[in-house]
This record gives sequence, C-alpha cells and structure tokens, in this order.
Amino acid sequence: MRLGVCYYPEHWPESMWEDDALRMKALGIEQVRIAEFAWSRMEPTPGEYDWSWLDRAIDVLGAAGLQVVMCTPTATPPKWLIDRHPDILPIGADGRPRAFGSRRHYDFSSPSYFVESQRICTALAQRYGKHPAVAYWQTDNEFGCHHTVVSYSPAAVGRFREWLKARYQTIDALNRAWGTVFWSMEYRSFDEIDAPVATVTEAHPSHRLDYRRFASDEVARYNRMQVEIIRAYSPGRPVAHNFMQLFSEFDHYKVAADLDVAAWDSYPLGALEEQWFAPDVKARWLRSGHPDFASFNHDVYRGMSKLPFWVMEQQPGPVNWAQWNPAPLPGMVRLWSWEAFAHGAGCVSYFRWRQAPFAQEQMHAGLNTPDNRLDIGGHEAAQVAEEIRTVLAANADANAAIRSKVALVYDYEAKWLFEIHPQGADFHYPRFAFEYYSALRALGLDVDIVPVDASLDGYRLIVVPPLPVVPADFAARLASSGAHVVFGPRTGSKTQDVQIPANLPPGALASVLPLRVWRVESMRPNVTEPVRLVDGKDATVEDGVARHWRDFIEGDGGSGATDSFLDVRARFADGHPAYVKSGAFHYLASLFDDALTVRLFARIAKEAGVDTISLGDSVRISRRGALTYVLNYGDQTHTLANVADDAFVIGSRAIEPQGVAVYRSGK
Ligand code: GAL
Repeated sequence: MRLGVCYYPEHWPESMWEDDALRMKALGIEQVRIAEFAWSRMEPTPGEYDWSWLDRAIDVLGAAGLQVVMCTPTATPPKWLIDRHPDILPIGADGRPRAFGSRRHYDFSSPSYFVESQRICTALAQRYGKHPAVAYWQTDNEFGCHHTVVSYSPAAVGRFREWLKARYQTIDALNRAWGTVFWSMEYRSFDEIDAPVATVTEAHPSHRLDYRRFASDEVARYNRMQVEIIRAYSPGRPVAHNFMQLFSEFDHYKVAADLDVAAWDSYPLGALEEQWFAPDVKARWLRSGHPDFASFNHDVYRGMSKLPFWVMEQQPGPVNWAQWNPAPLPGMVRLWSWEAFAHGAGCVSYFRWRQAPFAQEQMHAGLNTPDNRLDIGGHEAAQVAEEIRTVLAANADANAAIRSKVALVYDYEAKWLFEIHPQGADFHYPRFAFEYYSALRALGLDVDIVPVDASLDGYRLIVVPPLPVVPADFAARLASSGAHVVFGPRTGSKTQDVQIPANLPPGALASVLPLRVWRVESMRPNVTEPVRLVDGKDATVEDGVARHWRDFIEGDGGSGATDSFLDVRARFADGHPAYVKSGAFHYLASLFDDALTVRLFARIAKEAGVDTISLGDSVRISRRGALTYVLNYGDQTHTLANVADDAFVIGSRAIEPQGVAVYRSGK
C-alpha cells in the first residue's frame, strides 16, 4: 500500500524540481509517474532526441528516494509527426480526420503510427529501461479516451477485411453468419466489405459488432507492441496501463492480459456528473461521488490485474472536464484513497502534483495550487501516508486478497451489442451491471468482478447482469460451481453472430433454465410495471416495479404456462412471470427498482448460504487481509455495533460523515 503522484517536470522551471521532489517525499509519496505527454520535448525535431532534461528530472526524483513510473508518450504525437504522416489521424464517422491540437489524435490501425510508436518506445526503453530510479512503466495514456477506439480510415478498413477473413475463412460463411440475404446485403468477397458507417439507416448489427470487436483487438495489438519493447529493454519492471472509469469501448480483459498491473483513473465527482444518474442522485452525492462507483471500478480492475491493481490518477479536488465541477467535501480525498486500499489497491497515485496555470486543464486541481501551496487534497494525502504506516504496522497484509463468496460476471461485448441493437433506447449494460453490484454492496457483500470465461469454482452466489451472448460451456461451468446463479433479463438472447437462438432465449442456457422467452417488450423511462412476489404478504400489494424491459416467459414445454420445473416467485400485474427459479438458477425477467433488487438478492444470498447485513445506501464495508474497512459517504455519524474498542486501527465505532474506520476483522 503506497502513494504516488503524477508529475510533469516539463511544465515547470527546472529550479523547482528538487524542491518538488523533496516535498513529495516528505509528504509520504513513494512513486512518481512522468512523461506520458512529453514526446515534443523528447524529440523536438524528427530523429533528434533530447533526453537531457528527462535525465535530470529522473535523477532529481531518484536522488529524493522516489520511484519513477516511466510512460511511453504515444498519447500525444507531436505536430511535425502528424505533418509528415497525416494518415496517423483517426477518421471520424463523418469521414473527416480528427485534427491535431489536443490529444489521442491517432488511429490504432495506422501503419505509420505503429512504426513511429515502435521507434519512440524503443528509444525511451533503451535509454531508461535499466535506470535505477525507473521501477515501473505505463503504456500510452488512457487508451480510447475521447472516443478514439474506432476509426473509419482506409487502413482500418483494410485491416478489418483481414480480420474478417481470419474469423470466417470464406465469404459464404460470413454471409450466413451475418444473414446478409436480408435487404440484399450479400457480399461476393471480403474486399467488398466497408466500415459500417454512413449508411442510409442503421447498418447491419453483425457487421457493426464485428467492427467493434476488430477495433478492440487493434487496441490490444498496439498495447502488446509497446509491452514487448519495454520487456525487452527493461526486464523485471512491471508494466501498467491506466484504464478509465467504467470505460467499455475495448475488451479490457484482452489488453490487461499483456500487462502486469491494471491501473485506472478515479474521478468520482466527474463520473457522477457524466454518467446516467438521475438529477436527484447527482445532487445527493454531489461532493462525495456515488458510494459504489469507485468500488465498482476497483473490483473490475482487481479482477484483471496480475499484481495488485493501482489507481494511477486519483481526483485531488475539483476537475475541469465535467459539465459542472463541484469541490469534494473535506475528507473525501482521504476516503477515496482508503476505499482503494480496502479493495486491494497496491498504489493510489494522485493526479497531479500541482495545478498548471495554462492550457486545457488549468481549472483542474492538483495536490498543490498553481502558486505552490499544499491544497486540501495534499493535506489529506499526507494524512493517508501517515495512516498507511499505522495500518501496515497493525497488519502487514492489510490489502491482501480475501476469498469472496460472491462473483459478478462482467463483459465488454455485452455493452457493444446492446448499444448496437438496443430494442429499448436506455438499455445501458454498464448501468445495469453497476445496479446489481450496488445492491450486493448494500448487503455488505465483498464482490469479485470476473470475465465470463473465469473459473467460477468456490463462489456461493454468482450474479450475471444481462449477458446476451453466453459461451457454449457457460451453463455447465455454472452448474458445476454449485453456486446459486442470478441472471438478468436478455441473458442468452443472441448468438455470437447476433442472431436469435434457434430455441429462442435463453439459448445455450436452456439446459439449466428450462424456459423460453417467447416475446419481449421495452419500456419508456417514465413507464414502470408493478411486480408482486408470489409469497408476498398481501397478494394485492405491489412489492416493487419493473423498469426498462420485460421478457415474456413460459416453461420450455411450450404450453403457454410455466411448467413444473419452474418455480414462479414474482409476477407482473398482468400475471406474467417476473422472476422464476429452477434449482439454483434464478432468472429475472426485468430490471427492478433498487429496493426490490436488494430484497431479492438478500433472499437469494440466504438460500446460497451467504450472510448479508443491511447497510442502506451511504455506509460501505470491505474486508481485506485481516482487516475490515468501513467508509461513511453519508451526512450522519454511523455507529458500529459489536466491534470491540481495542479492535480499531484507524477511527472508532462512531464514524463521522466522510469518515473511515479500519478494524481487525472478527473482533
Ligand atoms: C485523465 C487523463 C489525465 C488528465 C485527467 C484530468 O483522463 O489521463 O491526463 O486529463 O484525466 O482529470
């Protein structure tokens, strides 16, 4: 458990560097990430490198006892490079290049950018790969930020055709898989296939999903190229990439497979403002962020990181990029930091050491104000550094893994498919995965977030948010895990080619869910349907409401009625099943309101033998190593019952708003 900071020596006079480094060290910072946007200073003119300033910056940091996270600078190709190779610029859906003058202005499929990236990464890794102060690497910066995964360039289309050839082998196979006989879209050769863009009405969904899969693979290929170069010249130094919060435009599991550390950039207030949350929810958590948002991301990235995951950028104060940018409540920078460790983070690194008074991000806070005084976030970071020492003294394994009883299956293609083929405009996969996660967290459960091909053995409860395409062996793996499994609606509703399964949904899950979804409907945002639990206290009182979607279910006998294999546990007002169970498999035919979701998950957890507690929405608990961490996002003091006073390592039984308590578990 350690702290880091993002630092831009190129933004500041060299006369400040030593003081900066000494103050970082004194504050308790151990690692410093540098250079991810510094290409124009590393190579001011083509082929003429200037390493002198970077040599000195690294030496100053190293002399202060700081470890450097060295970044490849490929998120910002310099102007001269773009002028020499205009094909580096990505092409937007409007067919026009996206211009120089900000960042991430490159196309993952550009052959010249691939070569130029190899060149600068090699030069950098050769120069610093074995430098004693360089302890870690970061590839690029935030792959895909600013909608840059997909490009519609000729280079991308050419590579897409090759990708299709490898996937389908023959054009007949592609035509069959996609169903191109519809609207006379049949192709005679792979060379006839373009990007699915600028069509008169919606382009073919299978074509679109394959383009997204292809673009995702391009990100993985580009990252792999950088990782291989770094490993060749800097053996033994872990390689990270800083992913983004809830970002889903490429398959992060595939990119993380080549890394040692999956890191992510945590901006809880900016995220709350920019995500789907309703205005009253945004107002409620305005200065704290949603209590489950950062945690959800921690658990996503922990689930793909070989070494403990990191927060590479932690919000230190107000950001600049959301529509409105509130200031965090005092205490939140500390709380967010502890929350990361409570979910297993190896490092929390603040963005950035000092607010720069120029350019796009001049309104974005740092640990220091532009006139170089420690800001609130800086003081809180110092407090966290002090507390880390206390916690580690109490328990050396303070952020060690625990064996969680609950898994949530998370999938990137699901997001793309529902976006391409929504059937209901607000069917937003990450939101629904988050809502299931949030319900589990409100019950005090520690959750592992895992990919669909993960080993599922050892879990007692597995939650599967709407997952349209299920692998052929998924049902068998779920069954052999022995866990209770909850499926969201639309699970198993498509084949991998984006067709309706021959046996109707849930398709390949029919062996464990003997049912047939014979009709579906989507629901407008202002429409809900009452839901009643079959064993509810009063059959005339609704227990909650369904939103967004309804699957119409019948037993697989096709008789029009649910058969004896299905236990109908809740119904819609019109009598159709809303929740059915078969053995240990639970199928939810809709997305329910939060309270009903929590209630159902509590019941199912009990059946699965998993203990829950009722936390409400503002206090959250996590267990790591031998410690329990409690965080109070609310505006009232929360008092813990049944914990001995001498169990506390940080805090006490009464946890103030924005407060943190850490105690020895089981005391
Ligand atoms: C991240 C990015 C940083 C900085 C930061 C501002 O997305 O990696 O470079 O822009 O946001 O919040």
